[in-house]
Amino acid sequence: MILTLRRAVLAVVVLAAGGLLFAWSGLFNVAASTGHWPVTAWFLHWVMQNSVGTYAMLTVESPPDLDDPALLPAAAGHYATGCAYCHAAPGEPQGDVANAMTPPPPRLVDWLPHTDWSDKELHRIVEHGVKYSGMPAWPSLLRPDEVWGMVAFLRRLPEMDPATYRTLAYGEGETPPTSANPDFDAALADCARCHGVDGAGRSTVIPVIGGQKQPYLAATLRAYAEGHRASGIMQLAATKTTAPVLDLLAAHYAAARPAAASAPAGEGAPDPEMLAQGEAIATRGVPNRGVPACLACHGVDRPEAAHVPHIEGQHAAYLDRQLHLFREEERGGSPYWKVMAVAVHEIEDDEIAAVAAWFARQPRFGAPGTAAAEPAPEAGG
Ligand code: HEC
Ligand code: HEC
Ligand code: HEC
Repeated sequence: MILTLRRAVLAVVVLAAGGLLFAWSGLFNVAASTGHWPVTAWFLHWVMQNSVGTYAMLTVESPPDLDDPALLPAAAGHYATGCAYCHAAPGEPQGDVANAMTPPPPRLVDWLPHTDWSDKELHRIVEHGVKYSGMPAWPSLLRPDEVWGMVAFLRRLPEMDPATYRTLAYGEGETPPTSANPDFDAALADCARCHGVDGAGRSTVIPVIGGQKQPYLAATLRAYAEGHRASGIMQLAATKTTAPVLDLLAAHYAAARPAAASAPAGEGAPDPEMLAQGEAIATRGVPNRGVPACLACHGVDRPEAAHVPHIEGQHAAYLDRQLHLFREEERGGSPYWKVMAVAVHEIEDDEIAAVAAWFARQPRFGAPGTAAAEPAPEAGG
């Protein structure tokens, strides 16, 4: 008995020492060029599937309505920037370097129909990425809502024809004007895929930015680029260009006058009782819980309020999301973001829905005919 135990211990020590010696010798081949042995590929994928299944069950909350078409344009636009290079897209091949990775990223259009990932499992993969494979995590872990948009898109990807994909990911084929500054032109063409050249926004999860205050836009873009405001989609978009170009884009959108937001700002049927509650919060606040009247700051158009954004006529879904992020202290922004976080610290869910619905129904800022706060941008300079 003692003898066998001693032998077992010895065997373990010898095996461990042998393994270390092999690793130290450098004979194990880490070259990606040779690919994995089939058994290694199978084992790694099996470990990944088990891990994704367990963590999806433990950590991912239930999905929102994934059939909502408003989720698609921003997700498709982000897919074109951040995923298509590795995973291909309808009518678009994978990048050459992606093909040389080990493991090679699957062409999701053809691959996804052969998998049985649940919505929660796809969410887990896209939010956290996969170690030892090159599959990156979502740029912000504070935005599970954006990841749900991507899951909704991935669900539709296998049947999507190239023309539908192109429209979703690159916009309606609008040609941005050209200026003397090619960097600005390229950046504006990129923003316009989601926001339009006039800043109207292509769905209710993409905010209207045409006619927004220039100092707020400039500070916001800087905050995304530096990672102080959490959004996987906008952090990627803002880091694709330089700080001076971001300032020119802020000036461009501040001076823009969108004809109409492409989606109605106050979605759904208005509920008069809810709107009355929203109006009461906007004009009087919720005094017993220390929530101030929103219009004390948001209705003011003086230079001191340059970092208080216009929210009248903004999409209700967008306003609602931002208010939750502020309350949970998950949204940064301009140097004044904390002022807003304190204002809504004690606000409740039904109050958020009501005040968002009320603001969404007010005459929209930056509509044609209103004065531009800033002179037209000198984009050529
Ligand atoms: C640098 C290349 C790269 C980028 C960029 C990338 N991925 Fe991946 N992705 C991979 C690789 C490699 C795997 C395979 C992981 C494995 O099998 O262990 C993978 C796996 C996946 C899977 C699971 C497929 C399966 O069934 O095994 C999904 C879903 C996915 N990626 C979605 C995305 C999305 C959405 C984006 C963009 C937000 C993205 N990926 C960006 C490389 C990439
Ligand atoms: C792939 C789609 C996409 C692209 C490309 C994109 N945006 Fe956005 N943008 C969004 C979404 C979605 C949001 C909402 C993000 C959030 O919740 O913080 C947003 C938010 C913003 C905001 C914040 C508005 C506010 O009221 O606080 C600004 C400003 C902005 N974008 C400007 C730009 C500029 C400038 C570019 C080009 C450099 C750009 N965006 C590119 C989708 C996009
Ligand atoms: C004390 C002044 C103040 C009060 C009161 C206030 N806000 Fe704000 N609000 C701000 C500032 C400043 C910002 C900009 C934060 C940033 O830098 O991103 C902001 C941002 C917002 C945004 C984000 C808009 C966007 O485009 O992303 C929403 C939505 C908003 N406020 C709604 C409200 C509502 C609803 C109330 C009332 C319950 C309210 N605010 C009360 C100062 C205030």
